[in-house]
Amino acid sequence: SGDVVRRERFSGGPARGFLSSMGADKRIFEADLAVDRAHVVMLAEQGIVSEEEAGEILGALDEVEAAGYDALPEGEDVHAAIETAVIDSIGPVGGKMHTARSRNDEVATCIRYRLREDLIEALESTLAFREALVEAAEDHTETLMPGYTHLQPAQPTTVAHWLLSYEGAVARDTERLLDAYSRTNRCPLGAAAFAGTPFDIDRERTAELLGFESVVENSMDASSTRDFLLETVSALATLATTLSGIAEDLILFSNKGYVDLSDDYASTSSIMPQKKNPDTLELVRATAGDASSGLSGLLTTLKSLPRAYNRDLQRATPHAWGTVDAVREAIEVAAGAVATADWDEGELKTAAGEGFSTATGVADALATAGLPFRTAHELVALASEDGGDYEALDAASEEVLDEPLDAHVPREAVESALDPEESVASRDSQGGPAPEAVEETLSAAREAIVTD
Ligand code: ARG
Repeated sequence: SGDVVRRERFSGGPARGFLSSMGADKRIFEADLAVDRAHVVMLAEQGIVSEEEAGEILGALDEVEAAGYDALPEGEDVHAAIETAVIDSIGPVGGKMHTARSRNDEVATCIRYRLREDLIEALESTLAFREALVEAAEDHTETLMPGYTHLQPAQPTTVAHWLLSYEGAVARDTERLLDAYSRTNRCPLGAAAFAGTPFDIDRERTAELLGFESVVENSMDASSTRDFLLETVSALATLATTLSGIAEDLILFSNKGYVDLSDDYASTSSIMPQKKNPDTLELVRATAGDASSGLSGLLTTLKSLPRAYNRDLQRATPHAWGTVDAVREAIEVAAGAVATADWDEGELKTAAGEGFSTATGVADALATAGLPFRTAHELVALASEDGGDYEALDAASEEVLDEPLDAHVPREAVESALDPEESVASRDSQGGPAPEAVEETLSAAREAIVTD
């Protein structure tokens, strides 16, 4: 029987374990059963196998499923092992299951089928993360914080404005994942090895039975392409890069005492009793490394592969699974850390005004009063050397303009610009940190979470 022939071919030799993908294939066990069922149903509908034969095969597949992955016989991969199990159960008629297909289109379909589920879960995690960011932002539209460029105090902003800067980035990560989903959701089944089949199959029907949006048309393309893995992993690597940024910020902010991480997301030292370390966020930050290694693993494995199927593809898939798992875990941890973080409003308020962070606002106030911005910039820069308070500004005015400052700008306007809270409130341009502007961003973000 075909059964005996296949077993002889996979008879072993020193490369037996090396050839096998049984370890990694556990992840597509359920997918393979679904693909087998859809294929057999289509074969029966097309009259390629009889209804009775199809019934027997479907019954055997149910048994295989009930027995579970660990009960599968030996095989080069899950596809071969399931086929062997079906033949062991119902005899040679089980071999009809593989009519008009190959493991090449079969595995490509299984990967896409399973990856869709993983993508949906990753998408759900990004939405939950965005909700956590939005909820924290709602509580902190008026909580001042220092904003940095080059890690130097730059201009005061608010915790909500900072949180929503990440919400915006994760919203785009969501779009990229949705995009990857739409191209993953196409069915290669029926491509056979790469060259199609003489049997009168119905590819649209199997695609429909498996819930795919459409088929991958060209059979050579269908069995060999893994670009959907590249897109998915690249979207995940981008997301992991976003996560590494927020993790880094939170690590820095906890170092400065601006934020207290929940004990659930911190850890202590085995020797230094006083320590509370942001280890979980360090691990989130490091996940960008896992994701980028997954992406480069895939890119280098796929590069220069000739048409059509090559066994290299077997080693490409685990790069995707590894990335999916690592990033998903990291996003959930990041969401938890954000949701439970405790912001020290007093500490943040003090810090928001440090380092003459209101200097730009003062220059803006002088420019509003009619001074050329460049002159205002020069005057404020001079004052910043003496601490940047009103007296320093006034002295700088005498030096640059030969007149006291209030000859140009009312004192209240300058005092107000020097106040971090007023400074934030004044920056109400679209997307800016003023509480009303942040409210607008917040409601757009809430809406987008619902639509996505
Ligand atoms: N397990 C293989 C994979 O992951 C599918 C096997 C196709 N084998 C073959 N010799 N064409 O790609």
